[in-house]
Amino acid sequence: MGSKIAVIGTGYVGLTTGTCFAHLGHDVICADIDEAKVERLREGELPIVENGLGELLREGLRSKRLQFVVGSEEAVADAEFVYLCVPTPQGLDGSADLSYIEAAAMQIAPFLTPGTVVVNKSTVPVGSTRFVEQALGRSDVHVVSNPEFLREGSAVHDFLNPDRVVIGSDDQSAAIRVASLYLGIPAPFMVTNPASAETIKYASNAFLATKLSFVNAIAAVCEAVGADVNDVVLGMGYDKRIGHEFLRPGPGWGGSCFPKDSKALIHIAEEAGYAFDLLEGVITVNLEQFDRVTDKIVRMAGGSVEGATIAVWGLTFKANTDDLRDSPALEIVKRLLAKGARVQAYDPTVTEPPRGVEAIEVCGDAYAACEGATVLAVLTEWDEFKWLDLDKTAGLMTGLGVVDCRNLLDRSALVQRGFDYEGIGRA
Ligand SMILES: NC(=O)c1ccc[n+]([C@@H]2O[C@H](COP(=O)([O-])OP(=O)(O)OC[C@H]3O[C@@H](n4cnc5c(N)ncnc54)[C@H](O)[C@@H]3O)[C@@H](O)[C@H]2O)c1
Repeated sequence: MGSKIAVIGTGYVGLTTGTCFAHLGHDVICADIDEAKVERLREGELPIVENGLGELLREGLRSKRLQFVVGSEEAVADAEFVYLCVPTPQGLDGSADLSYIEAAAMQIAPFLTPGTVVVNKSTVPVGSTRFVEQALGRSDVHVVSNPEFLREGSAVHDFLNPDRVVIGSDDQSAAIRVASLYLGIPAPFMVTNPASAETIKYASNAFLATKLSFVNAIAAVCEAVGADVNDVVLGMGYDKRIGHEFLRPGPGWGGSCFPKDSKALIHIAEEAGYAFDLLEGVITVNLEQFDRVTDKIVRMAGGSVEGATIAVWGLTFKANTDDLRDSPALEIVKRLLAKGARVQAYDPTVTEPPRGVEAIEVCGDAYAACEGATVLAVLTEWDEFKWLDLDKTAGLMTGLGVVDCRNLLDRSALVQRGFDYEGIGRA
């Protein structure tokens, strides 16, 4: 027999959490303040691009184990568990802004049944379990931390096949109750105190960002010494202590989590009296990478992009998502626009110019983006870009420069067709 779960916030994390718990057999009510979003979800329409999520949404609606409501009151009244999945954006001083968490806690507090477990799934700074307890002001409910590690693009797979489930609670029985929700999930479970659970999430994201900045720094060295970063990371990755995952050079890292979570961890450490210089360096390397990549494109265009047409393939922060939040592609496009370029972009999930780069033209397909362009810049690693017709592409462009920021395209096939090719970390 499943449990009654309320999920507050139906974004990438909340929607995945709700649909997957319903799939596992629980009765789930998802609440959001966005009425239009709730309406679409009730119709079985997915507001985001996420592999496999639409099927689970419709499965949940059909089985009636999944419902959507506006506002949280109705969702929590009967719930044994309430998952908080609201945003924790970056505040003005770099710390995590907990105002959404606080508002959600205050909204649900009067309606919770005694004994309910309120679970923080949002990424929250150390001490937030206590913060939520205080905001709730209810000594008869438990607050537990259960951070989420899913990757956008494979969120459903990651939720149902996680590398680990981390539960932070001072109350063993509440922790065991949360763990029981995941019955049937093949993963190691770890119960620790709330501060450790909260730190595990930030430390994991900061470490992944560090790996990415490290490999981009190595790519810069490779370019200077004539090595090929693709071979270098392959050789490094065979070492089990290093591994192949996340050793891919690129235009810099971004997305909805790494930038804000790295800043938040620096802030947490600072408040506790530790200057996290290493992580500051990781962020600096990333900002430099946006500039380095922009410079490559400018050089490829002959030293200036003023008045030049640049074709861009990919705008999302990574492939298989429609998420544009803090996308490195947009960082580079902004820099190109500031230097006077005309940008024609194509991304499989983007139909309108995103906020901050309104001056770009969004094209209907990858070829249209290349019409009249002097340089093509590949900024997101969408698989479909690998299989495009290079002769047709060459025929549409006025110049033949390619800056492949994901080392995605077939370099020799491009060179054979007369393209001037530059990747990342490959001299
Ligand atoms: N996106 C990811 O890949 C990812 C992965 C792991 C953890 N996280 C963390 O999970 C949290 C949520 O991230 P997200 O990407 O799902 O956010 P999101 O912005 O996609 O979704 C948040 C949702 O919460 C809703 N909301 C805000 N206040 C509300 C309230 N009071 N009541 C009901 N709904 C409310 C918003 O309308 C929105 O639909 C963040 O802390 C984030 O850091 C995100």
